[in-house]
Amino acid sequence: MLFGMTAKIKMRPDGREFTAGPNDTILDAALSAGIALTYSCNNGSCGECRARLVSGQLGETRHHDYRFSASDQAVGYFLTCCSLASEDIEIEAHEAGGVEDIPLQSINAQISKLEVLSEDVMAVHLRTPRSKSLRFLAGQHVTLEIDGLMPRNKSIASCPCNATNLQFHIKRTEGDPFSEYCFSALKTGLNVKVSGPYGNFVFDDGSVKPVIFLAYDTGFAPAKSLIEHALAIEYEQPVHLYWILPHGTNPYMENYCRAWMDACDNFSFTVLQGVADEDAASCVDKSLLVGVQRLVADFPELGGHDVYLSSPEISAPSSRAILLEHGLPEKQLYIDVFQRF
Ligand code: FES
Repeated sequence: MLFGMTAKIKMRPDGREFTAGPNDTILDAALSAGIALTYSCNNGSCGECRARLVSGQLGETRHHDYRFSASDQAVGYFLTCCSLASEDIEIEAHEAGGVEDIPLQSINAQISKLEVLSEDVMAVHLRTPRSKSLRFLAGQHVTLEIDGLMPRNKSIASCPCNATNLQFHIKRTEGDPFSEYCFSALKTGLNVKVSGPYGNFVFDDGSVKPVIFLAYDTGFAPAKSLIEHALAIEYEQPVHLYWILPHGTNPYMENYCRAWMDACDNFSFTVLQGVADEDAASCVDKSLLVGVQRLVADFPELGGHDVYLSSPEISAPSSRAILLEHGLPEKQLYIDVFQRF
């Protein structure tokens, strides 16, 4: 590799490759490529990210307090969170094989930004301490505790490659104290306790099937995290998103979807308007039905796909039943439910 260029890093034994820029640690480069290397402190103290250099030479090594034994050093152990690559290398490193490999964590984060995405959706950005970022898999959720309010489970809308900056989508909902507080009193700098991560709504990296996302309203949040992961691992199969919106509302991040479509030949999306109904629950049910019916009409060979459904809890069973009736094997259906609030 020449000065200022990227290095190629090959994982042993499976041969996956990712690239690292001249200022990227090997850990950061792996996470950006959707590879969930094991780590904890991200600052050279704990040794959790230790990996072995199989071939090539490492570049700069940042200061770390963790000490390797002489025998570890002799066989090439190094810390991925403190090491850069100045040439193409091969490494052996531990990686999360699934949600069971991600420890539960409790982190005190701060609100770094409040971003109005639409009239009734806001993005809350949290920053964790650099030495205590949240390790999670795309699509998972956490519990947020804010200022004495009842704790609330929320899906993480960002991707694990940026584990110190977490994004959440909050819907304006009258009668919900959490939502009302977020829209009226939330301020940057406020402390938020984050516990988790939880949930099995994660991408099947080993699949070779086309993928369909069906997201209702702010159910877009975990879909966004998963789609960003699919793009990071350069998933080769077609990926399609159906985003169903409550009647009369607009998609709040359509520009993101357009950017994904411009950047990737295999990504496409459809925005669908839900139906109006005086009863809120039946309105969600009927709206989701619009999406599911469109999906099964567009994909009559549904059995060859993986489907990720992100919907309010009360409406998930009816959508699930229709998808299974249309030939989707249960093991290819991933469901994330959230409170309608
Ligand atoms: S993650 Fe703790 S030393 Fe690298």
